[in-house]
Amino acid sequence: MLVAEEVRDFLPHVEVPADVEIVWLPASQPVPEGDHAGLLPLLSRRIDAELLDRLPDLKVVANYAVGYDNVDLDAVRARKVLVSNTPDVLTEATADLTWALILAACRRFPEAMEVARHGRWGWQPTLLLGMEMRGRCLGLLGAGRIGQAVGRRALPFGLEVVYWDRQPQPEFEAEIGARRIESLTDILAVSDIVSIHVQLSEETAGLIGRDELAGMKDGAVLVNTARGGIIDEEALCEALESGKLLGAGLDVYEGEPNIRECLKQLPNAVLLPHIGSATDVTRRKMFELAWANLMNGVRGEPLITPV
Ligand code: GLV
Ligand code: GLV
Repeated sequence: MLVAEEVRDFLPHVEVPADVEIVWLPASQPVPEGDHAGLLPLLSRRIDAELLDRLPDLKVVANYAVGYDNVDLDAVRARKVLVSNTPDVLTEATADLTWALILAACRRFPEAMEVARHGRWGWQPTLLLGMEMRGRCLGLLGAGRIGQAVGRRALPFGLEVVYWDRQPQPEFEAEIGARRIESLTDILAVSDIVSIHVQLSEETAGLIGRDELAGMKDGAVLVNTARGGIIDEEALCEALESGKLLGAGLDVYEGEPNIRECLKQLPNAVLLPHIGSATDVTRRKMFELAWANLMNGVRGEPLITPV
């Protein structure tokens, strides 16, 4: 079993059968050739034909993430390797962090923190005015598990919720009064806050580009806790710099772990280092689930959360 070294601290939370041998693999190192039956990688590892060729006996890739855009699905299918992810266990933590970004961007935290730490200031009626959320509209791009969990949290803040998703979600609509909008252009035009909860795929790469940003409301806020490649970051920098958008809250980036310099320079960009699921409980549960998938995969039993 090849297991990401970085999850080693969670090992005491699972049972390791006596016949299972673990080889710890740091994220910085390439996969060694070998007869490993299972691989538990971080999301930063690209699972492609080249890697799979080094592991001819591989039966399962148990991705330590809900997203699996790091996996070349055609390559794994061609070799009959199974893939699992870690849905559900990270939904609530990720929705919480999304709200931290919504609030931080709407209330201008980076600028406010800068003033508090370094500025000369006195309480002033017009200091750092942000967006009042009550009565405004939250647009969810993607209303799967995480998108819906974000939507549920919107009611106490007095926001109307609209969503854009291929699948109508009648239960979600009934639960919180969310309304489906079929066109991306239309949802961007009516939302004061746009939060991204779609997977990164060929269809969604660059989904939010220059035209889409131009079609958003003036003074709107854009939040992304999904994958960086969904937004054209150069275009986002321009929209933030010009004041077209009030702010952005980002947890994910195109070129992780590097963050584009223009984003780092912008006072209205709230930047976090991909910590959506980073709570004590959630990261442990992700390991427990990935491990259970790994064990099932190597034994030829059905995966718990197959991709
Ligand atoms: C984190 O980004 C995940 O996909 O789990
Ligand atoms: C704010 O600090 C207030 O007293 O209104």
